[in-house]
Amino acid sequence: MAKKSVSAKSPAAQAKGVKPVYVLNGPNLNLLGLREPEIYGRTSLADIEKLVTAHAKARGITALCLQSNHEGELVTWIQEARSMASGVIINAAAYSHTSVAIHDALAMLDIPAVEVHISNVYKREEFRHYSFVSSVVKGVICGLGVQGYTLALDAILADISK
Ligand code: DQA
Repeated sequence: MAKKSVSAKSPAAQAKGVKPVYVLNGPNLNLLGLREPEIYGRTSLADIEKLVTAHAKARGITALCLQSNHEGELVTWIQEARSMASGVIINAAAYSHTSVAIHDALAMLDIPAVEVHISNVYKREEFRHYSFVSSVVKGVICGLGVQGYTLALDAILADISK
């Protein structure tokens, strides 16, 4: 089942009419904290979402955090982001390495998108070294743990406030 959580809209973001940043997480990331903690650490997805939401709020913007194990649902949210979001943070997880559909959806965005991986995929199995996401986003943050999400948010804010 898809999970949706929205931070309260800060007065600053409301005043400026800034749309939320979509924070999209793909398959198996709902089990962060329990899943291979030696690779992904012990922080749960709920805690990551709290962290990003607070980080966004402190900067006068909102974060809309969504997670799905289903490729099509992620595609639908990326499509929705075209009109509803000011930027997209995406950890497409295993779909990063397989999904032409997610690549194509991201290619249609004209807002900044940043790809995040908690682990350093280049230190891992070879099948993780190619990402269908990387060529259609502004930048990639990988191997910096959950901090990657807040760094991605700062990169998007820097880009939209240019
Ligand atoms: C991941 C890396 C992917 O290779 C893997 O399939 C994931 C998580 C990461 O955040 O490090 O599920 O995207």
